[in-house]
Amino acid sequence: MTRRSRILVKALVWVACLVPLAFLVWRAATDELGANPISLVTNTLGDWTLRILLASLAMTPLGIVLGAAWPVTLRRLLGLFAFAYACLHFSVWIVLDFFFDWARMGEDIVKRPYITLGMAALLTLVPLAVTSTSGMVKRLGGRAWRRLHRLAYAAGALAALHFIWLAKVGRTDQYWHAAVLGLLLGVRLAVWTARAVRRRAAAAAAVTPSAAPRP
Ligand code: HEM
Repeated sequence: MTRRSRILVKALVWVACLVPLAFLVWRAATDELGANPISLVTNTLGDWTLRILLASLAMTPLGIVLGAAWPVTLRRLLGLFAFAYACLHFSVWIVLDFFFDWARMGEDIVKRPYITLGMAALLTLVPLAVTSTSGMVKRLGGRAWRRLHRLAYAAGALAALHFIWLAKVGRTDQYWHAAVLGLLLGVRLAVWTARAVRRRAAAAAAVTPSAAPRP
């Protein structure tokens, strides 16, 4: 992929990630948020947090399937957008649901399991966002950084459970999101297993003297 097309794809990702937010702001500005505006804003931001998080997790498997490096270059941008949406989603809960009543918020986190799960998902994303810079990759070392960033799957699982727990009877989209996460995790596990088997076979070949007869 040329430098120009890489910039174009990144610009498209920026636009795609900002459109849902712009649409929400536009609906608020034109008084089109419906009968329950807080719920609409919370749910829209929650939906897009999960979608963008899944998109960021899809980049590595997509790169493997396509045999291309460019999807991986979008992972960080998508991950940071997911984190930004999660912070907005959380801010709506803090400001509009509880208006900074920290004691009641604490109670809610402990009392309602889906809030506990959402909180855990958000907190799991924090170290990933903080260490997303190239400087942090260097400081931590590639291997430790990659290990830490596997937490993105844990964040995805917690977020999917948050959605499953809160969804009302009769809804099915929460399961579709969980199924997509399962598929992505399946691809990664298959790749990790294949790599581990290859590494072990190479190590075994290195220590076992060749059985082939010498000429
Ligand atoms: C990575 C973090 C998170 C993700 C991906 C996420 C995702 C979601 C999703 C998909 C929904 C459902 C939207 C719908 O019904 O269409 C939702 C709703 C909600 N989330 Fe989160 N969430 C996260 C973190 C949090 C946190 C930290 C809180 C608060 C502490 C929170 C509070 C809520 C509330 C109050 C709702 C609305 C529930 C209802 O309609 O009754 N979420 N979230």
